[in-house]
Amino acid sequence: MRKPVIAGNWKMFKTVEEAVAFVDALVPLVESSAHCEVVVAPPFPALSSVAQRVKATNIGVSAQDCHWEKEGAFTGEVSCEMIKEAGASHVIIGHSERRQFFGETNETVNKKIFAALRAFLVPIVCVGESLAEREKNETERVVGEQMTKGLDSLTELQLSHIIVAYEPVWAIGTGRTATPELAAETHRFIRDTVAKLFSRSSSAAIRILYGGSVKPDNIKGLMAQPDIDGALVGGASLKPDSFAAIVNF
Ligand code: 13P
Repeated sequence: MRKPVIAGNWKMFKTVEEAVAFVDALVPLVESSAHCEVVVAPPFPALSSVAQRVKATNIGVSAQDCHWEKEGAFTGEVSCEMIKEAGASHVIIGHSERRQFFGETNETVNKKIFAALRAFLVPIVCVGESLAEREKNETERVVGEQMTKGLDSLTELQLSHIIVAYEPVWAIGTGRTATPELAAETHRFIRDTVAKLFSRSSSAAIRILYGGSVKPDNIKGLMAQPDIDGALVGGASLKPDSFAAIVNF
C-alpha cells in the first residue's frame, strides 16, 4: 500500500557534466524497478539538465533545499516555483546539515513545506536526533518536536503529499547505521506521532524513509522492517552501481 521510495541526496557533489553522466548510467539499471519510486537530488546547477535527461524515465528529481517565498530580495536563495520550473518533482526540507550549518529551524521547515506544496513539489521532510540527544535519551522529545512544529497547521490532505525521512545525525556519513530494529523503533514513534497529530489513516499512509549510512549491504534488513518505507541515501547514492543496488534491494 505504501510504495517504497529510494532517494539519493548528492549533497554538494557532482558538476553538471558528472550529474548527467550519472543519470545516463543509472537509467538502464533501474528502468524495470517498478517496486519503488526512484529519486535523485543533485545540486541546484544540475537540476534542470538532470530533469531533462530523466524526463521519459521512472526517475524523479529533487532539490536539496528551497526558500519559502516565491521571489524577492533574498540573495543566494531559490524558490520552490523555480525548482518546479527546472523540472524537479521533490524537495528535501530540514536536512540535519541545513539545521546544523545553515540555521534551519522547525519554523523555517514549516514555512518551506507550505511553499513546496504551493508549487506542487513533494516535500521530503527530514527529522532526527544528534548523538548527544540520543545518549541523553531525548530522541522522542527531539523528533516529536520536529514533527509537531514542522508539520504545524497542515491539513490531512496536505500531509498526504509529504514524505518524512528519519535521519539520526550520528548515523550520517559515519558508517554507523542504526540497526534495523533501532531505526524501526523511531519510525514507529514517528508514525504514532502522526496518528496523534492527524489521524490513524494519515499515519498508516505516510511514507517514512530511513537515512544514515544506507549501503547495498544493509538496505535489505532495513526494508524488512514494516515501518521503514524506503531510504534517503547520501554517500552510497553517488555511484550508479551502488545506488542501483540499493534501489533493487
Ligand atoms: P550518508 O548515507 O552518507 O550517511 O548520508 C545520509 C544523508 O544525509 C542523506 O540525506
